[in-house]
Amino acid sequence: MSSYREIAELIVKEKACVALTGAGISAESGIATFRDKGGLWEKYDPVRYASIDAFRTDPSKYWLIRGEFIRNYDRYQPNSAHLALTKLEDLGLLNHVITQNIDGLHRKAGSRKVIELHGSLREINCLGCHRTYLAPKVPDGTPPHCECGAILKPNTVLFGEQLPPVALENAYREASRCRVMLLIGTSAVVQPAASLPHVARQNGAVVAEVNPEKAFPDADFFFAAKAATALPEIVAQVEQLM
Ligand code: OAD
Repeated sequence: MSSYREIAELIVKEKACVALTGAGISAESGIATFRDKGGLWEKYDPVRYASIDAFRTDPSKYWLIRGEFIRNYDRYQPNSAHLALTKLEDLGLLNHVITQNIDGLHRKAGSRKVIELHGSLREINCLGCHRTYLAPKVPDGTPPHCECGAILKPNTVLFGEQLPPVALENAYREASRCRVMLLIGTSAVVQPAASLPHVARQNGAVVAEVNPEKAFPDADFFFAAKAATALPEIVAQVEQLM
């Protein structure tokens, strides 16, 4: 396993770090990942429950898997890994968090520069009058309907949909500019997010992966640990060096 001290020294020296996060960073907040044992895609076929075609045919399916989170939005809290990234931003060492997560926990943790590549469950849009509701305040029903009578759709990217272009452009810019990329809790298989660590390395950055199971073979540093354990350790070392 790589040394926390060594990556901390690089973060302090380079002053140009970004984090790319996935579902694993929120595991300790009680949110199941997708591809681990017991993960969401083990229970629900993503094509039948989370694709745009499935939503058009029967929106109740996506609401079945997402409605509970949205209605309990305030109960889910950031863990020490999200908070460690916020601290790194406050110290002026983290340029951006790029996340594939739709749980809103980076923003709840106080991170300001967050790129939500797959959107967010916090916002729920009316497909008719385009009014936006904010979780957890959403009308009853599976699927819920807007006051105007149209169906509501969470502002998340479903399979078969394009990523928000501005978010994607910003993510590529940040990946190519950074000197250190922290790759945290992602299986790094879903494109285009999965290409970002390659973009970072091709532009000369060091990639440091935090994951109990190695997912990115090209990582320069690898911490075989839970995010909620490793991130506070790294940031504690950073603070000692400042
Ligand atoms: P995955 O479920 O594919 O991968 C989760 C990763 O987190 C795995 O590599 C785990 O080993 C790791 N992990 C588990 N617990 C951890 C912990 N406590 N600390 C750190 N790492 C841990 O989730 P993502 O990579 O985020 O997209 O999945 C990417 C995208 O696929 C999602 O955004 C979603 C999904 O389909 C859409 O829905 C569009």
